[in-house]
Parts: sequence; C-alpha cells; structure tokens
Amino acid sequence: EARFRASVGAAPRISHDARRTAERAAHASGAAFRNAVDSDPALDDVRAWALGALGADPGAPSSPVLHTTADVDAVVERAGALGAAWGAVPAPERAAVLEAAADALERRRGDLVTSMAHEGGKTVAEADPEVSEAVDFARYYAASARALDATAAASAADGEPIRYVPVAVTLVTPPWNFPVAIPAGGVLAALAAGSAVVAKPAHAVPRCLEIAADAVREALTAHGHPADLVQVVRTDEGGVGRHLVGHGGVDQVILTGAIETARMFAGWRSAHPGGPRLFAETSGKNSLIVTPSADYDLAVADVVRSAFGHAGQKCSAASLLILVGSVGSSARFRAQLVDAVRSLRVGAPTDPGTGMGPVIEPPEGKLLRALTALEPGETWLVEPAELDADAPWTGRLWRPGVRDGVAPGSFFHLTECFGPVLGIMRASSLEQAIAWQNQVRFGLTGGIHSLDDGEIEQWLDAVEVGNAYVNRHITGAIVQRQPFGGWKDSAVGPGAKAGGPHYVAQLGRWEADPAEH
Ligand code: SER
Repeated sequence: EARFRASVGAAPRISHDARRTAERAAHASGAAFRNAVDSDPALDDVRAWALGALGADPGAPSSPVLHTTADVDAVVERAGALGAAWGAVPAPERAAVLEAAADALERRRGDLVTSMAHEGGKTVAEADPEVSEAVDFARYYAASARALDATAAASAADGEPIRYVPVAVTLVTPPWNFPVAIPAGGVLAALAAGSAVVAKPAHAVPRCLEIAADAVREALTAHGHPADLVQVVRTDEGGVGRHLVGHGGVDQVILTGAIETARMFAGWRSAHPGGPRLFAETSGKNSLIVTPSADYDLAVADVVRSAFGHAGQKCSAASLLILVGSVGSSARFRAQLVDAVRSLRVGAPTDPGTGMGPVIEPPEGKLLRALTALEPGETWLVEPAELDADAPWTGRLWRPGVRDGVAPGSFFHLTECFGPVLGIMRASSLEQAIAWQNQVRFGLTGGIHSLDDGEIEQWLDAVEVGNAYVNRHITGAIVQRQPFGGWKDSAVGPGAKAGGPHYVAQLGRWEADPAEH
C-alpha cells in the first residue's frame, strides 16, 4: 500500500493562504511543469489563433483502419522490427527526441485545441491545459529516460549491477475524455522506455491523437529515426481489435478506460508467458469532503470545478460531496453552491464563452438514470435539464444537476455515472465521511477541504485513493507534482503512476548486468 501514498507527499497540507502563495511562487519560478507552460506569454498568439480557429473543422481522420487480423500482424511485425532498433538507441538520444516532441506539440496547440473541441466536446479552458500536460509529459519522460542510465550506474557503484532492457512493442489504447494528454503520455513514455508504439485512438476522437502523433513523428524524423516508431491505427470493433490487444508480438498494453475493459484486456493477454503486462488506469467514483473548518469560498469553487469540468466526464471528477456536521445545514454554503452551479454557462465548446460543454453522446444507462431519476430520500438541489441544441450537440447539452440526500449504499453513492451530476451526502462526523468515501470499490482521487491540521492528518491516514488532494480541486493532476494513478478497482496491473518517477522504468525489464560482474 505504501506506494499509493506517494502523491500524498506531493499534495501540500497547507492553509488556503499558503496555497495561494505557493501557487503564485510556482508560477513565478516555473518550477511546476504545467505552470511553466501556461505562464509563457509567447504562447498568447497561439491561443488567440486557437480561439479564432475554433469554427474550423479539424478534418477527417487519416490513420489506417485495420480490417483483418493479417493487417494487425503487419503493423505489429513492423513495430517489432523498429522497436528492436530503437531499444538500442542510447537513452540520452531518446530523451532528445522527446524534448523535440515537446516543442512540436507546442507548435500544434491550436490544432489540438480545435480538434478537442470538435471531436471531444472540450472547452478551450479544458483543452488548453491538456496540451500543456502533453508537453509536460514529453519533457518529464525525457528526464525519466536519462534516469534509466543513472539507476544502472548507481547499481554498479553499489556492487550489484543491473541493466535496463527495453521491450520492443507497446500498444497504447487511450480513452475519449482526454484525447491528447493521455495518449501522448502513453506514446511518449513508451518511446522514452525504448519501445516502438502502436496507438489506437478512441473511436470518437481520432484526429486528436493523429495530430499529437504527427508532432512526435516529426521529432523522430528530425533526429533521423523512422516516423513509424509511432503507428496510429484504427480497428473495426470486435475480432480485429481483440487480435491486436491479445497479440503475442505486443509486449505490453497501456490502457486507460473502464475497469470492465481492463479486465477484458487482461483476459485477452493472459495467454502470454510472464503475465499480461497490462498497465491500466480505470474507473473512479470520487468524493470531496468539506468540514466545518473549511474556507467555504475555496471549497465551493473547487467542488464546482471538480464536478463539472468537462461536464463531469473525467475519471478523476468529483461525483460526491460529503458535508461534515454543520456544513450540511449551512444556508450560506448551500446558497453559494447553488449559485455557482447555476451560473455555469452551458453551450457548444466551439463558443469561447462556454463554461461547461456537452457530454460525448446523448446520455443513456447509468448517466441517464443519474440525470433524470431520484432515489428514495433524495431531492434536487439543482435539477438538471436537457437544453435545446443544434447538431452535433443535440441531446448532449445538459444543465448540471445536484442531487441532495444521497444515502449510504445507494445507487448514486456507489456507481460511476460519468457526467454532469453531483450527489450530496451529509455525515455527522469526519469518521463517517471517510467511511462513506472508502465504501466505494474504486480508489482514484479524493479530496478534503479543511483548515484543521488534525482533520487533515486523520483523513490522509485513512483515505483509500491513489491521489489524495488537500484544499484543492481533485482533477487536473500536474505532471511530476502529482503523479496520477489509482488504487482498488481504479487500476489493473503493476500501477506505477503516470507523470511520476517510476512510470517509464516499469515499461522495460531490469536484469543483472553480466558485463559488469
Ligand atoms: N489526469 C487526469 C486528472 O488528473 C485524469 O486522467 O484529472
């Protein structure tokens, strides 16, 4: 369990004033990767262009569709041959390619933001930092590649030399909700680790991945390496996709998706010697606790951002708000929350003034139930409603909802619904709040708003999540500062965190170095 607590150390346990000061200092020093990118005034013209270009269609996808298992075999075979050569390229050279990829991604910021708006329904406020996250991954994983050599050198100095051996082929299968940062992170980590990549975009968002991959391919070519070290392919549903995921020539799979998908993939790969080599970040049902000592202004802002950013369609999103003691009966807290939720401007992501964009497709199943049906004892604090919208947003624009009085053990307490609806629970004590938070089978993100050090300590000791956030929104993990990954049913596989120090190192093999013995 200890490894899951790494991000606790990174989540500062500080007061709200200290938090503001720290964030300003991070901006000023450029110490935080994302902030360094976001605060660069040289990017203002790129952003202005992106806003102007939002109406432009990003174009039809261009990556090949694999129709047969023979198509898959050819792609994997090519990756195997290229991967073997790439794995022999010294780590510092691989790092230099990633640093060039960071710059190439930055140059495509406008295209990436536009594609995320059109394909994924992302607002500029969500899409712009997502490009920054991809850039951060490139720079951070470049440093991780260099660290592989340092680890080997340290082991030699200690008299027990080990060496790092890349594996040839990594398959990256990202989700639709972070269509740039998550695939870019997987592709870049695999390249840093010395592996060739086959990347399969989520069906709804192929252009996003294709544009990001083009940037990486440009960097490879500029350094004299084959662009096809990154092959982007789409597959038919069904047997061809299954053949790719379960292929014996694929050494490992990086998946971000639902827990059910991860378990299915693990089954498809179980035939391979040495285990599935599946690295999966999966589902979440995340909650944010607010205690009476909290700064309500900050708490409300962080709740709304966590619950309704990208219309609640983040695995990290806050789906539950657990109010402790007097917060639950505070008219001021309730009024602020209702005002903040009602003031969200819902609209098309291509409108720069939109605060909350569409859901990826008209809701059905669990999300439709969450948006339209109350359970016994619940009431609407803010009632969600579908808004009239032209194509392609028809059925997809929803005013966000807040369900009050969610009961422990109920449908909404325990089910991931993935959309713009938040549930409120009222706990009599912090112990009870933590017990409800931990009662869900997932353990991805969680948060507490409290200005009491004792409460914060108590919570940090008990909460069962991969990313524990104090006095902060619970989405938007920052590369290096908040390595991201899950616990319990939020992960399948070895589970080193993305954007953290062990992520690249786990994507190859470590073995005793015979040359040094
Ligand atoms: N890394 C994202 C976040 O922290 C989720 O994938 O919100």
